[in-house]
Amino acid sequence: MIRKIGVLTSGGDAPGMNAAIRSVTRSALSNGISVVGILDGYKGLVEGRFIPLERSSVSNLLSKGGTILGSARLKEFVNDDVVAKAAAKLKENEIDALCVIGGDGSFRGAAALTRHGINCIGIPGTIDNDIPATDFTIGFDTALNTIVDCVDKLRDTSASHHRCSIVEVMGNHCGDLAIYSGLSTGAEIIITPETGFDEDTIVEKLNYLEKQGKNHAIVIVSEKIVNVDTLSQKISNKTGFASRVTVLGHIQRGGSPTPSDRVLASRLGEKAVDLILEGIGGHCVGIENNEIISTPIEDALNMARDSKKDFFRLFERLV
Ligand code: F6P
Repeated sequence: MIRKIGVLTSGGDAPGMNAAIRSVTRSALSNGISVVGILDGYKGLVEGRFIPLERSSVSNLLSKGGTILGSARLKEFVNDDVVAKAAAKLKENEIDALCVIGGDGSFRGAAALTRHGINCIGIPGTIDNDIPATDFTIGFDTALNTIVDCVDKLRDTSASHHRCSIVEVMGNHCGDLAIYSGLSTGAEIIITPETGFDEDTIVEKLNYLEKQGKNHAIVIVSEKIVNVDTLSQKISNKTGFASRVTVLGHIQRGGSPTPSDRVLASRLGEKAVDLILEGIGGHCVGIENNEIISTPIEDALNMARDSKKDFFRLFERLV
C-alpha cells in the first residue's frame, strides 16, 4: 500500500521540471497519497533533506524555469553503499516510492534504488533529448526555442557584416539540439556527433556557398566535438567570411518552459504516479507517437538512439 511518495530533480536542470513536480504532486494528492520533495537530487536524499509538498506548494509553477527542489550531480551514487544509505533514508521517513526527474545518469540511480527495495520511476527531464525511450525529453523544446531565437538574431548581424557565425549548442553527445535548430533556422552547416567533423570539408563547403552568392553563413556545432575558436580562425583564414564564435552555454537551460514542455511534463508526471500505484518500479516514462508509455530503465539505458538520418538528409537537401 502506497501512502507517501518522494520526488526529486537530478542532473542538469531543464525547463519544465517544475511542471513535472507539480503534476507528480497533484496526481498523487488526488489519489490520497502524500508527497515529499527531496532537495538537491540524490545529494539531498542521502542527507535526508525533505520538505512536505501540498497542492499550494506547487502553485504558480507551470511557467517557472529551473527546479524549485534544486538539482545536483552526485557521482558517488554509483556506489552501492551510498544507494543503500539513500534507500534507508527513504524507509526511515516512510517514503514508499520515488519519482526521479532527470537524465540517463539519474535513471541509473533510480534503477539502483529500485533494486534496494524502493520502487522508482524515472521521468525524462533534460534539454539534450538523449534518452532513446522517449521521442522527447522535458526541456528540449524550450531549449530549442531559445537557440532558434538566438540564431535568428545572429543571422541579422552576420548578414550585415559578411560573416560566418559559429554557434555552439549543448547536447552532451547527442546532436538533436543542433539538427532541430539547424533545420529551424536554415543554418548552412551543422556539425554533430552524428555528422562527424572534418575541417577541410567545412572550409570547402563555405567557399562553395560563397561562390553560390551567400553573403554570410551560420554553422551550428554540437558541444564537445571541436574547438570552436580554432575552427573560427581557420574559417577566417581560408574563406572569404570573417568568422565569429557564440557559445550559447547555460542560457539554453533557462527560461519559462514552452506550452509543449509544460504539457509533456504534466502528462509524464501523471503516468509516473499511475505506475507507482500499480506497484511498478524501475521503469521510466516517455512519449512515443504522442502516446505516454513506460519502459524498464535497464532496457531504456541499453537502447540505441535514433540516428535521425532522415533529418540530416533533409538538412542537406534544403541548404
Ligand atoms: O545534460 C544537460 C547539460 O546542459 C548538457 O547539455 C551539458 O553538456 C551539461 O549539462 C553541462 O553540465 P554543467 O551544467 O554541469 O556544466
